[in-house]
Amino acid sequence: MASLGRFLVISILQGFVLGEHQQNTLNVPQVLLPYVPRGSVHTNFSLKALQGCYLWVSNRPEVASILPLYSNEEEQSVKQLGRKCSKEAIVTAQARLPERQMTEILAEEEVTGMILRSDVFVDIVAKIEIITTTRELLLGEPPEVCHIQAFDTEGNMFSSLEGLEFVWELKTVEGVGSVNAQSVLRFMQFEFSSYETSPEIYSLEAKGSRGNNIVVEPINTGTAIVKATLKDKAFSNVPPAQVKIVVLDNVMLIPGHDVYILVNTSVTYNVIRLRRGKAAVVPMPSSQFEFKLSNTTVAQLDVKKSSVLGVTKGYTKVTLVDKNMLHIQAVHQPVAGVHVVDAAFLGFSIVPHPDWVLQVGVEYDVSVQIYSYDNHKVYITDNIQIKTVFDESYFQVLWSSTNGSFHHVRTLQKGKSILTAVYTSIKILGTDVIYTFDHPISGQQEAEIFEPVVVNPEIILFLGIQLHNRMWPPRTSFNIYWR
Ligand SMILES: *[C@@H]1O[C@H](CO)[C@@H](O)[C@H](O)[C@H]1NC(C)=O
Ligand SMILES: *[C@@H]1O[C@H](CO)[C@@H](O)[C@H](O)[C@H]1NC(C)=O
Ligand SMILES: *[C@@H]1O[C@H](CO)[C@@H](O)[C@H](O)[C@H]1NC(C)=O
Ligand SMILES: *[C@@H]1O[C@H](CO)[C@@H](O)[C@H](O)[C@H]1NC(C)=O
Repeated sequence: MASLGRFLVISILQGFVLGEHQQNTLNVPQVLLPYVPRGSVHTNFSLKALQGCYLWVSNRPEVASILPLYSNEEEQSVKQLGRKCSKEAIVTAQARLPERQMTEILAEEEVTGMILRSDVFVDIVAKIEIITTTRELLLGEPPEVCHIQAFDTEGNMFSSLEGLEFVWELKTVEGVGSVNAQSVLRFMQFEFSSYETSPEIYSLEAKGSRGNNIVVEPINTGTAIVKATLKDKAFSNVPPAQVKIVVLDNVMLIPGHDVYILVNTSVTYNVIRLRRGKAAVVPMPSSQFEFKLSNTTVAQLDVKKSSVLGVTKGYTKVTLVDKNMLHIQAVHQPVAGVHVVDAAFLGFSIVPHPDWVLQVGVEYDVSVQIYSYDNHKVYITDNIQIKTVFDESYFQVLWSSTNGSFHHVRTLQKGKSILTAVYTSIKILGTDVIYTFDHPISGQQEAEIFEPVVVNPEIILFLGIQLHNRMWPPRTSFNIYWR
């Protein structure tokens, strides 16, 4: 008994403190419900108070009635103490005249006598709209929910459309290359989706009907129109709502960045499809996709090989076109750029080393690159032939690529050595013809080779102590050996 008393004191104090700081109100100051003719289902809206326990009254119940909704606890006190208050109540549209009507809903707090108010309007629906979070769906990704919102003649949005039946349809977008809407999208019942909805919609769907929310699943690429109509004949002058939904395939081009190629060389494209975080190669040519070049003078497409051959200097875009999208303009499609350029000069690089100061007895990877006049690295293909000469007394060549652009070498002795490379010729693709340049471009690179650094064991010991104290000197490019 004592503890119940303390509980009450605390709750009253809490109520008082909260009441001081934050005005207690209903969840909405105004409610707009649709007028429905006799015989149709009535639309409801739930009014809630933040705290307290209220007695509810509608001053024009013929417009909208109010029914308290008791929580389990409140239900108990209704039974045991005869109290009839609740925190929540259901407003039901009752208006029987097709015009704007209003009632005030008043809620009186049982203990404090504080009165809260919400104005409920019932009006005719003038317009409906379909709302989606996106009009572009990705194939293989989760379905999307479409919602309907309704408006009165002044553009006020209805608070609830629960219980109203809608007819949802899929319409084909007409035009050249159009695809059947039924092959692009499918309506799904909420029960079979991962989404949740209101009890009213579950019960409509269970009856084979549809409410104001629907799940739309993408099944193939293309576009389709989703159309919704209010089912009841009483709404026959409300125009249907429709939205166009695009279903895209989550694909990308590899290489996706711009490439610089030489005349008579080609770059091969791969199409990669992403589905639920996994990537897979789309075999090309395919029935769904094709490549398109924006400039067919600059480059030529080999459909069988998915490759683009440089023909003359210039730029072309390579677009991956989805054949199901031919009837839609400006849809997002993967694009990559190809610059066909002249070879201007050669460059050299070596790993694992940032510069050309090398060490005796170490293996390195040497590559020769071709650059364009505007300093872009050219894409090295198999049919390019580069002749690279290493001085045999300094470098042992362990392996070279056929095109002569990559070499795995070992340094032999200390000293300075000069490497030379010449871009000599190119094999004409699809033939055995080798085209040799009259004035080939060439390049040179100097390399300095040193003996490994030898350090006395005493110094190592000293350095070891330093290391322990975290005072190891900054890293140099030399490894330290001792015997
Ligand atoms: C609205 O509430 C009334 C009374 O609680 C109920 O009979 C009716 O079925 C409800 N309407 C919908 C659409 O659920
Ligand atoms: C490209 O190949 C054609 C033969 O197909 C040849 O006539 C032309 O000179 C070549 N051009 C270059 C820059 O390799
Ligand atoms: C294609 O590229 C060439 C070379 O840059 C240019 O002369 C030509 O106008 C381009 N054609 C089109 C259709 O853009
Ligand atoms: C041509 O050169 C590139 C770049 O060094 C290399 O990746 C490729 O394997 C070479 N191809 C042939 C056939 O030598």
